[in-house]
Amino acid sequence: MEIESRLVEVLQHARHVAVLTGAGVSAESGIPTFRDAQTGLWAQFSPEELASPGAFRRNPRLVWEWYAWRRELVTQATPNPGHLALAELERRVPRFTLITQNVDGLHQRAGSSAPIELHGNIGRVTCSEEGTVVDRWDTSDEELPPRCPRCGAYLRPDVVWFGEQLPEAALAAAWDAAQSCDLFLSVGTSGQVEPAATLPRVAMQAGATVAVINLDVTTAARPPLYTINAPSGVLLPTLLRAAWPV
Ligand code: APR
Repeated sequence: MEIESRLVEVLQHARHVAVLTGAGVSAESGIPTFRDAQTGLWAQFSPEELASPGAFRRNPRLVWEWYAWRRELVTQATPNPGHLALAELERRVPRFTLITQNVDGLHQRAGSSAPIELHGNIGRVTCSEEGTVVDRWDTSDEELPPRCPRCGAYLRPDVVWFGEQLPEAALAAAWDAAQSCDLFLSVGTSGQVEPAATLPRVAMQAGATVAVINLDVTTAARPPLYTINAPSGVLLPTLLRAAWPV
């Protein structure tokens, strides 16, 4: 796969690289993306019908079980070469910011030190009333969702649902990185969900070079914008090797 030499040069000389990832980066780890048809038991539901405060109010057990199913998928998944390439990129550039919409924790498992988790993390559970993280709860009780040991309210996954606010500090850090980076990579995201979808434009308006890596784009170089149609698990390692041949 040939990568635009100008893009490789920008990467080699970048002072600050910011990367936004979406579900496409985890697709090659076997985790279905949001826009893929839901599989099996969950085929009858759209994420919007499950990942929302209304859905949780209406049917907390169903929502809890959907996340338990996804948590199981994530546990069985392993980081793919795209995740690993981003962990290596962090070690190669002076300043690196990883911003992810993914809640699967695969970036951390690949070695990325501090991804900004815009939409939370499925591996964490919070009290639906207090909002605080809960590490342990009474598993002897069959009731699902389990209840907060402190206040008795239902527990919920620590993820941002449709209609909920993103964590303010995470969003501010992501915005700051988009405004101060000199190269912004948008990888494996359909760019349908705000405010993450605005970050590439913020970067470009601040003068950064932007590369969009996705399967539903046409490869083109219109500096400072590059679009590359390729699976992230192939393109990211290729980009790293082009910039820093082993
Ligand atoms: N390599 C690169 N891109 C890929 C790959 C791959 N191997 N496989 C799929 N893609 C692309 C798809 O073309 C699509 O554009 O990844 C994108 C996945 O898009 P979505 O399923 O919409 O996922 P995402 O963009 O992360 O969704 C954003 O929406 O559902 C909410 O909160 C949820 O964080 C999620 C947010």
